[in-house]
Amino acid sequence: MTGQISEDKINEVREQTDIVELISQYVSLKRSGVNHMGLCPFHSEKSPSFSVNSSRQFFHCFGCGVGGDVFSFLMQTEGLTFPDAVRRLAERSGIDLQERILSPEEELRQQQRERLYRVNDVAANYFHHLLMDHPAGAAARNYMKTRGYGRKAAGEYQIGFALDSWDGLKKHLEEEGIAAADARILGLIRPGKQGRGDYDLFRGRLIFPVYDLTGQIVAFAGRVLDDSKPKYINSPESPIYHKGRVLFGLYQARQAMRQSGEVLLVEGYFDQLALFRAGFPQVVATCGTALTVEHARILKRYIQRVVLLFDQDSAGKKATFKAMTVLQEEGLPAVVIELPSGDDPDSFIQREGAEAFRLRLEKARSVMDLFIDDLLTEAGSGIEQKVRAAEKIIEQISGLSSELEQDLYLKELAQRSGIDLEQLKEVRAKGSGERQQKKKAYTSVPIPEEYPPPEDDFSGTIGGIYSGRVKTVESKPGWSPPEKNLLCLLLKNHVSVKKIIESGGLENLHHQDALAMAEVLLAHETASGFDMEALVAQLDPGKVLLLSELSSFDQGQFCENVDAIFNDCLRALQQEQIKRQRMESMDKIRQYEQGGETEDIKDSLKEFTNLK
Ligand code: UTP
Ligand code: MN
Repeated sequence: MTGQISEDKINEVREQTDIVELISQYVSLKRSGVNHMGLCPFHSEKSPSFSVNSSRQFFHCFGCGVGGDVFSFLMQTEGLTFPDAVRRLAERSGIDLQERILSPEEELRQQQRERLYRVNDVAANYFHHLLMDHPAGAAARNYMKTRGYGRKAAGEYQIGFALDSWDGLKKHLEEEGIAAADARILGLIRPGKQGRGDYDLFRGRLIFPVYDLTGQIVAFAGRVLDDSKPKYINSPESPIYHKGRVLFGLYQARQAMRQSGEVLLVEGYFDQLALFRAGFPQVVATCGTALTVEHARILKRYIQRVVLLFDQDSAGKKATFKAMTVLQEEGLPAVVIELPSGDDPDSFIQREGAEAFRLRLEKARSVMDLFIDDLLTEAGSGIEQKVRAAEKIIEQISGLSSELEQDLYLKELAQRSGIDLEQLKEVRAKGSGERQQKKKAYTSVPIPEEYPPPEDDFSGTIGGIYSGRVKTVESKPGWSPPEKNLLCLLLKNHVSVKKIIESGGLENLHHQDALAMAEVLLAHETASGFDMEALVAQLDPGKVLLLSELSSFDQGQFCENVDAIFNDCLRALQQEQIKRQRMESMDKIRQYEQGGETEDIKDSLKEFTNLK
């Protein structure tokens, strides 16, 4: 499939791809401060100098100088072209690059989505203005104040207020030239019955906009200002909103999530706000729905563990255990924080403060632990109930991917229930046989023809990608990473031609294309950078592609560290050069050996050892 990939799409793909997760498929990474470190896949080394920065989405090796973003990583490890790297990552994130000519229906759908985003945007601005500045917003401003929030928080989240009227928004959207049909699809206005006109969904409510990962508003939630019911109403699902895939606050929290490696998962909009402001910005809420597998997969891109913070009531507990199962299936460890009965995170923080919360967070315990406790307590001392509970617990434990972990929990269960450990293990073995059977029945279902062949299967989902099926694409011979880096520095005017020549950088270029490209670049440098037009006109088509790959190689991160990267490049190029020379003199030595030319061997050996 060929076609133009838009800059927007490229950015979207980059944004949606977690570089740490991607690179972890190839390199074992360990967190170290804000970075992740590992052994460089591009040169051989014993101690890690390869660093991945997840918040800035780039990697760099301080040993060999290679660096770049998610695309350049794939280009270099898999030998892909830039567009192919974009395509592969887009597929993985489920992003449609829309390279092909859209069918008329698809075209219409795409246009509709864009209109819908705009409607939400207009609506959000309208609501926000009412809360911030309008006399009718006084009651809502007051309400915000009673919950401890002022203009700042309202501004950051673009919180708003919907007038207590049947057609405030409806009229505003009309004035803005928005088609009623679009507002209806979003559920913002609803068709009136028996010939009466449309009316607003949100009336007399505080409004929270819900953002997607690209920062666009996909839905709203509205809270009453008093005790009336329903307390919250939420936008219905629409072509741009699927509540099972959206987490409230993720847009604001994702940076902190990457940095802390964890997420606090709460139930309420105000819980998200409260924790965020109290200094726990790694927090998201589900939007009036249970945690889904899709949620878990999204979270997995950012974090290594989930801290569950559901309400301290029986519904909250149910939700906790349901979430536990979902997270377990995705292999995400989960812990829980318990709060005093009747509290939610917001009420706890308001009353006891951030420090008290921090202490609770430190004492978070594994959700399986809570599960075991909870079921055994409920079972009481009756033998039969206890056995039932143990069976349920074992079934849950068997879902853990680590056998070691399973064993530890079984031990725990044995201790707490007083049931013999060996017996518990037997129950597990029996259960696992049954599970195998079930699995077999499931996987033996024939795969329909239209499924893509396995070698192209990147599953389209996060987490399962590449797993156990790393394609060994032959990396086509190309320029080495330091060659690319050097030319990229040159192209982006980070380093002048003069400086490169003076430091011997050009002499150490080896690959033909790299040399050719360097020459062309040299010929077109002007006082104000490169004359790109003349440059492109001069190049044959193959080289234009190289040039565009080269220019997309640096995503802006180079400028922060030009000198270090430049020096790394030079050193790496020199080393490569020396390696080549050593190989040449080794060849010579072999030749002389065959011909018995002892004097020449001596010379070459000297040369060889000098090259160390
Ligand atoms: P809660 O009833 O626990 O409310 O609902 P809350 O979050 O503590 O709300 P505040 O603090 O009184 O403002 C938890 C979450 O469940 C969803 C909302 O997402 C809410 O934040 N919910 C609740 C609804 O969608 N509709 C409702 O009517 C109630
Ligand atoms: Mn609450």
